[in-house]
Amino acid sequence: MSFSIKNICCIGAGFVGGPTMALMAEKCRNLIFNVVDINKQRIAEWNNKDFSKLPIYEPGLEEIIKKTRNKNLFFSTEIEDAIRSADLIFISVNTPTKTNGLGAGKSSDLKWVEASARQVAKFAEGHTIVVEKSTLPVRTAEVIESILNSTLSGLNKDKKTFSVLSNPEFLAEGTAIQDLENPDRVLIGGEDKEAMLLLSKIYKNWVPDNKILFTNIWSSELAKLTSNAFLAQRISSINSISAICEVTGADIREVSRAIGLDTRIGSKFLDSGPGFGGSCFKKDILNLVYLAEYFGLEEVAKFWEEVVHINIWNQKRIAKIVVKKLFGTISQKKIIILGFAFKANTNDTRESSAIKICKDLIEEGAELIIHDPKVNPIQIEADLKIKPKPLNNEASKTFLNSNSGSWRFSKDLNIFDGSHAILVLTEWEEYKNIDWNYVAKKMVKPAWLFDTRSVVNVELVKKSGINLWLIGDGGI
Ligand code: NAD
Ligand code: UGA
Repeated sequence: MSFSIKNICCIGAGFVGGPTMALMAEKCRNLIFNVVDINKQRIAEWNNKDFSKLPIYEPGLEEIIKKTRNKNLFFSTEIEDAIRSADLIFISVNTPTKTNGLGAGKSSDLKWVEASARQVAKFAEGHTIVVEKSTLPVRTAEVIESILNSTLSGLNKDKKTFSVLSNPEFLAEGTAIQDLENPDRVLIGGEDKEAMLLLSKIYKNWVPDNKILFTNIWSSELAKLTSNAFLAQRISSINSISAICEVTGADIREVSRAIGLDTRIGSKFLDSGPGFGGSCFKKDILNLVYLAEYFGLEEVAKFWEEVVHINIWNQKRIAKIVVKKLFGTISQKKIIILGFAFKANTNDTRESSAIKICKDLIEEGAELIIHDPKVNPIQIEADLKIKPKPLNNEASKTFLNSNSGSWRFSKDLNIFDGSHAILVLTEWEEYKNIDWNYVAKKMVKPAWLFDTRSVVNVELVKKSGINLWLIGDGGI
């Protein structure tokens, strides 16, 4: 069979589908990329004439979209047409944790993957390579394959053929373009060697041969879950040691540096913080836990579940420390929250530690002013499930009488007047250069700064007279 790839479709224009196809379109100018989604608003945002209003903020993405959009990269809701004309289809839809039914709270909800597979089965023509880009439980390829093959009957049988591959994505948000451009590895799992070679040929336009790895399909699916589980496990490990540092007088930055110099451990992913967030770590570990439980490996399940437990404990302890340092009560105290995104350089707030920490502080009665350079306040409202405090004075009084805390968003950093405390939750660059001397004059004394990301200049804060709590520092 002389099958070649000219037309590519990606189902799902999200954090993975959008940037991944954009980078591929830039690197493979001879191929056409159709990125489709059921979410009309998201597609409209990808097609926005104002490039600063794309639905996803990623350094370097805007420039690539400028070069490729409507040339060989197209965003649309015409899913059927895109499937029909595709030689290769990436399934890059969301796979959140199931909220009800069998496996609720742990296993992945595959309803969007199944819907995509059914659409592919219905509309594909000729031979089509179907690639799992979403992170999926082990053996999902089997499910996709059986849906695709169930349409092959009678006349259809000669007209439609499918090859299913697994090609998980390892990009991290905030560095997506860098990661896609220079991946540590590209993993292709499957049985159809010809299809695997055709997919690898796309990557070979910019990825060196030795970074392209071929495995069987199940190893590929499991390797993706395991990568995320190992990364998350490192963060829970370092955060647990951070708490020990705080009570013993050690400093987590010194401990991280010392252990990271061991080449067997390595220095990356050893930054202690408020706890890992993001859409995937928790969901992928829980998926692994479910898999272990399903196969009766209870001890294995418990081992990985503890990584998630420690993370929740770590998020909870931050709010408790703030309350304790502010004399046991934060009711009606103004607290500045610096950063709401789950990490710097992204507007994504999914599973951000800031959500839990802010909720806890509001519950204790604090009045929060939240700042983030990229997150939209509408997103914050959706995450906190609490309306912001009205600006109008009268309405605001009634609001306060409700006995609970409140939050308000600020676009600029001119917010320190009358504040009792500042809490750094995301490591945005601009928080590194705050003039603490100036800020100290605006704050209520004794003023407190809680830095959960190790971004502030400790000497300057100390000189300003603001009390400093720094994560993992038992020496302050
Ligand atoms: P996302 O929610 O940002 O995007 C998924 C998109 O798929 C949504 O826009 C949704 O409307 C669309 N969709 C759902 N069903 C559809 C259908 N039947 N037809 C057309 N469109 C449909 O999700 P994401 O962050 O891009 O993640 C996608 C997958 O990639 C997940 O499995 C995730 O675990 C994995 N992943 C994510 C990251 C990351 O950094 N976000 C990194 C690696 C892997
Ligand atoms: C993570 C993985 O790094 C990617 O390889 C993977 O593709 C992706 O999940 C996925 O499957 O979705 P991402 O969640 O975007 O990427 O970002 P990370 O850089 O991994 O950060 C995750 C969380 O851990 C953030 O909240 C971050 O602040 C925190 N973190 C990270 C730390 O607290 N300390 C560190 O040293 C590193």
